[in-house]
Amino acid sequence: MNYYERMKGKYNALKDKENVIILAIESSCDETSIAVVKNGREVLSNVIATQIEIHRRFGGVVPEVASRNHITAISSVYDEALSQAGITNKDVDAVAVTYGAGLIGALLVGVNFAKALAYSLDIPLIAVSHVYGHISANFISHPALKPPFVCLMVSGGHSALLRVDDYNKSSLLGTTIDDAVGEAFDKVARVLSLPYPGGPEIDKLAKDGKPTYHFTVSNALKNTLNFSFSGIKTEVVNLVHNLSQKGEQINGGDIACSFQEVVTDELSNKAIKACKMCELKKLVVAGGVGANSRLREKLGQMCKDNNIEFFSPVLKFCTDNGAMIGSRAYYMMKDGLGLANLDLTAKANVSL
Ligand code: KG4
Ligand code: ZN
Repeated sequence: MNYYERMKGKYNALKDKENVIILAIESSCDETSIAVVKNGREVLSNVIATQIEIHRRFGGVVPEVASRNHITAISSVYDEALSQAGITNKDVDAVAVTYGAGLIGALLVGVNFAKALAYSLDIPLIAVSHVYGHISANFISHPALKPPFVCLMVSGGHSALLRVDDYNKSSLLGTTIDDAVGEAFDKVARVLSLPYPGGPEIDKLAKDGKPTYHFTVSNALKNTLNFSFSGIKTEVVNLVHNLSQKGEQINGGDIACSFQEVVTDELSNKAIKACKMCELKKLVVAGGVGANSRLREKLGQMCKDNNIEFFSPVLKFCTDNGAMIGSRAYYMMKDGLGLANLDLTAKANVSL
């Protein structure tokens, strides 16, 4: 029997196993992360080797540099993940890996490592979508959280509202028609000469500013749950260029604050609107921009005002990590989904 045929039976048997240990690998962008997760919610270890300092000097992630650094880091991250979890690879029931979306070269490092590991240990390989991994970060932070809920998914690659009916059943309510919100944060930060990644820098700088500038988001999408962030990004970039051409002083704090206020208003208003439309009383935020302090504050307050329960991952699980992939893989396994063969490959884009 070949590997995949053998794994079908093993995968099915995991559904009824009392304790399932998944080793999960994430390498879609600039963090090499491997986690060991028990029963989808208990993180035994979550090791992250970040490349932020390496890419900072280029002002953003350089894909080829990211791939090479994943290769350098992955073996020691793996050893460390097992050691911190206090287990050996013989205790692992399945290997999970992000196969997309992300940088192809970077993803391939994780995918190939995962395939070799699963094959050598003769255990199932689970292919996980990065975006759905982000949602699962909430299951780790909130042990009692269960679907159904509305999810505001905000990262460097996505801005979307999803109706999550069950662990493996969701539908798209709205999405960005142009830039992802994290992309807009990063570009605004760049024009303000802030280091990469820009989101946390804008978050910090905005605390010293006032919303004195009047930036706007597209009115055309007012009655939808879709987003557009390229217009506001261009407004900020043009303003900064105009001011510097005139030799006028640029108040970075006020610009960051004004930008962040408009963007977080737009995200929060539409998230609440989505809950009302779906008649759901739970809202979950996911993805790197979910770490934004003003967004969390607004969502928390608006949910309170509207009698909606609000959930957000603890900060370390907002940005990319292996643990969220392990959680997601566990719930896929429970429904018999995601079992991959050794021809699994990486995908730059995965539809929501
Ligand atoms: O989820 P993530 O780590 O990677 C992707 O899947 O894209 O998200 C990264 C994005 C970056 O654009 C980063 O600037 C943004 O999340 N980000 C933030 C904050 N922390 C990270 N944006 C706003 N405020 C933050 N505190
Ligand atoms: Zn991510």
